[in-house]
Amino acid sequence: MCGIIGYVGNKKASNILIDGLLALEYRGYDSAGIATLENNEIKIMKDKGRVKNILDLDGYDKLQGTYGIAHTRWATHGKPSKENSHPHFDNSNTFAVVHNGIIENYNELRAFLAEKGYTFYSQTDTEVIPNLIHYYYTNIEETDKSDTDKTLRAVAEATKDLKGSYAIEVISPLMPNTIIVGRKDSPLVIGTKSDENYIASDIPALLTYTKDFYLLNDNELAVITKDSISFYNTDLEKHSKNIKNIEWDASAAEKNGYEDYMLKEIFEQPNSIRETVGSRLKLNEPVNFDDLDIKPEYLKNINKIFIVACGTAMHAGLVGKVLLEKLCKIPTEVDIASEFRYRDPIIDDKTLCIYVSQSGETADTIAALKLSREKGAKTLAISNVIGSSITREADYTIYTHAGPEIAVASTKAYTSQVVLFAVLAIHFSELLGYSDSDITINSNGDTIKLEDLKNDIINLPKKLAIVLENTDLIKEFAENAYTEKDMFFLGRGIDETVAKEGSLKLKEISYIHSEAYAAGELKHGPIALIENGIHVISILTDESLAKKTISNIQEVITRGAKTMVITNQNLEGHTFDYVIEIPKICPLISPILSVVPLQLLSYYISKNKGLDVDKPRNLAKSVTVE
Ligand code: AGP
Repeated sequence: MCGIIGYVGNKKASNILIDGLLALEYRGYDSAGIATLENNEIKIMKDKGRVKNILDLDGYDKLQGTYGIAHTRWATHGKPSKENSHPHFDNSNTFAVVHNGIIENYNELRAFLAEKGYTFYSQTDTEVIPNLIHYYYTNIEETDKSDTDKTLRAVAEATKDLKGSYAIEVISPLMPNTIIVGRKDSPLVIGTKSDENYIASDIPALLTYTKDFYLLNDNELAVITKDSISFYNTDLEKHSKNIKNIEWDASAAEKNGYEDYMLKEIFEQPNSIRETVGSRLKLNEPVNFDDLDIKPEYLKNINKIFIVACGTAMHAGLVGKVLLEKLCKIPTEVDIASEFRYRDPIIDDKTLCIYVSQSGETADTIAALKLSREKGAKTLAISNVIGSSITREADYTIYTHAGPEIAVASTKAYTSQVVLFAVLAIHFSELLGYSDSDITINSNGDTIKLEDLKNDIINLPKKLAIVLENTDLIKEFAENAYTEKDMFFLGRGIDETVAKEGSLKLKEISYIHSEAYAAGELKHGPIALIENGIHVISILTDESLAKKTISNIQEVITRGAKTMVITNQNLEGHTFDYVIEIPKICPLISPILSVVPLQLLSYYISKNKGLDVDKPRNLAKSVTVE
């Protein structure tokens, strides 16, 4: 989704702005632009297409300004084109603005401004912002104010008129060497260093410059020069703010010899799982979450848990539901955030709502969280990004600590979310006093002990490394299947949740249509689509369901399907085209192993098709608009 970069310091701004935009490329975009200011004049370079196209624009190499703003646009209002690219000017070319988010009332604001004589040159919602700023600037009566103060007031007044979401940067010849920024429901961070300050829509884009950040809050504005940053609310009351030191290493956001970020992130999983578990879980000790202060009395009073998220994070939530219900015996529902926020869910102070988001900036997830808080529920955020919006809105936060995830297709964030759910469910189970009893894990009445589950969690990195060593068969399958138009993913119980994630990965980066089904549901309709040669991938890790799933696979084989089975079960006496063996593990956390062959499968299919694995078409890493 759109990306923002800004710089104010002593260096040539254009190079830094371009480097920042390149670092944000993974978010997804279709046009890009920068603006710097020199000799009292704003110079804008923008066009549709890739960031590097800006380097070829007339005059780019002559830009000398030492501060400026930059943007990658992911089209929402108006097609990708030069006119619709940011930065946008007001009619008098006095204010240049870049904007992330969506202005929901832009039609009304456009009509208001048009009546005052303003003209619009793009189809964007953004163009109302510089013109509103100009409108307020020219109507400010206090003559004793400096131009910067008047601009700040005009920006504050303009933002009060905006409905929807925004992160903005504003420059103007009226306020030399200064950038004004503001945000509401769209991320913006300020990276700070002596004698220079940086702005970005996410932290990894600035990690090569600094590890010290200010995280802007909703309805907050900042006036930034090279050696000062002042914070205001929209009524222009000044306040101070603490710096947050971010421990991520800049090299963690680089490819380190891998062909693509996605492949690197898949292979990082033994380590990211280790980081997520950290010192939280040890054998023969209660789970210890330093960052979570939930009391047993509160938990005993809870009669329902909602897990709310989007996409892959929601799929991690599906595993979380199984873990929480089995280990804590609390009914748990999983909701898609974009549905949850509009379905008037039944929530009260006995409901715990858990929000899962790698980026912590997903607009629907944040909106759903706010809704449940308003309805009296406590909220717990699971995020990978320190200080992200969701973590600032929630009552409680736990971090996955998986390190930066750059590829649009989420891989290591998913496995870290799942393992964090496992550790959290054990923690809740211990708080609720179930630690000594056996936990029933399936309808056969099979049980596990929490200590055995802990042991399996501790051994996960070793087992993941084994899965990652066996890629030959997956590569072979990908070579044979990459021209397919449709595929099926099947599983029962927890394996069905993995089927869903495998299907999503395939769609995202291989552009192959696929369906994920509970294997037992096949006969109720979708089996009509099974015909000679279709590829069906099944996940089979739960012994209590193995025979049933095998029968369902036989049904598709009879109808001519080519089959791949990902399993840790004994399949003697059965023949499938491909069998990917994974190590045995407690079925409650088997998705952490069984998803990996599916991640690799979609990766290799995408490579066979010659696609851009890290930046799939139409997708954005963090979906900051509704
Ligand atoms: C995952 O591969 C997807 N790109 C997408 O479904 C993603 O998981 C979803 O948009 C949620 O993002 P979040 O975890 O940052 O909230």
